[in-house]
Amino acid sequence: MKVRAAVLESFGEPLVVQELDLAPPREGEVLVKLHACGVCHTDLYSASGADPGGYTPCVLGHEGAGVVEEVGSGVTLVEPGDHVITLFSPECGKCEHCRSGKTNICTAVRAQQGQGHLPDGTPRFSRDGEPIRHFMGTSTFAEATVMPEIGLAKIDRAAALDKVCTLACGATTGLAAALWKAAVEPGSTCVVFGAGLVGLGAVLGCKLQGAERIVAVDLSEARLELARRYGATETIVAGDGVVQQILDMTGGHGADYTFEATGLAGVMAQAVEAARFGWGLCTILGVAGKGETVDIVPRLLITGRTVQGGSFGGARGRTDVPKLVDMYLEGKIDLDGFVSHELTLDDVNRGFELMEAQDGIRSVVRF
Ligand code: CU
Repeated sequence: MKVRAAVLESFGEPLVVQELDLAPPREGEVLVKLHACGVCHTDLYSASGADPGGYTPCVLGHEGAGVVEEVGSGVTLVEPGDHVITLFSPECGKCEHCRSGKTNICTAVRAQQGQGHLPDGTPRFSRDGEPIRHFMGTSTFAEATVMPEIGLAKIDRAAALDKVCTLACGATTGLAAALWKAAVEPGSTCVVFGAGLVGLGAVLGCKLQGAERIVAVDLSEARLELARRYGATETIVAGDGVVQQILDMTGGHGADYTFEATGLAGVMAQAVEAARFGWGLCTILGVAGKGETVDIVPRLLITGRTVQGGSFGGARGRTDVPKLVDMYLEGKIDLDGFVSHELTLDDVNRGFELMEAQDGIRSVVRF
């Protein structure tokens, strides 16, 4: 079939929206008609050429939500008409990692996904016979895409797809980190560094867990205001003195839980230093630049702090994302406030500009 899609032709250049051929789904694959897709920093990061594993030409986009149109042979997890959220982090349920119950990092299709191919080693997108590669196993800046069935979370049909697409990446990362990865205890004190989509998700997750104090840290007053709306009880404008401020606010002890959602190595260090001696748990969520390192004074660890990280906040996509959608439908999770701009596919580059200008939280492309 013919689909319109936004193609990264060369690094550092705007995406080019054009018509491509999309081949039907093969064994274990599913054709999804996209209804909405968020524009995320990871798309911009790859488009810029900064990602050492990047490649062109490819169809970007990974925060998709849509409806199953057609399934390939052997597909059992979804059927046509199902509403789905696309998962850059699939969950096969069968590999050693999935069976361990200890991690959300499924190894089933990792190698091929990193190459921009579907699990059989080929892409489904093409242009005049020239293969166009996939991105993060999703490629959701397109009217339709083909994905492995293990990369789709089947969700309640009542949920608005142009809102729950934010759960395909950023919002889930923050929420899952607070709800499950860190499993924040009621009555605790939490600090969240960064009040973008991931950080706001973490703030909300801390609130849902019954945290007593939630301190949000960000450079932007507008974002801190939004953080207050999502449950932050106190806010701090980011800067050098942040750790001392947090220590002062907590009787010199530090916070029970800290979350880092900026991708900046220096902030990761602050998040460790701001965790309480004795039992403070620091959860790193941001993706730092290639080759960057974090300096941690070992004394901080020997005196009881723990540092952990979690891709996608540790969420197991097919298991946990539908739960978050249900919480959205129950009114517990306000996703609507995350969507600051709505765009058409033709305006997708505008989504990157808004992100670079730090204008709003999430732009969503509607198809
Ligand atoms: Cu993302």
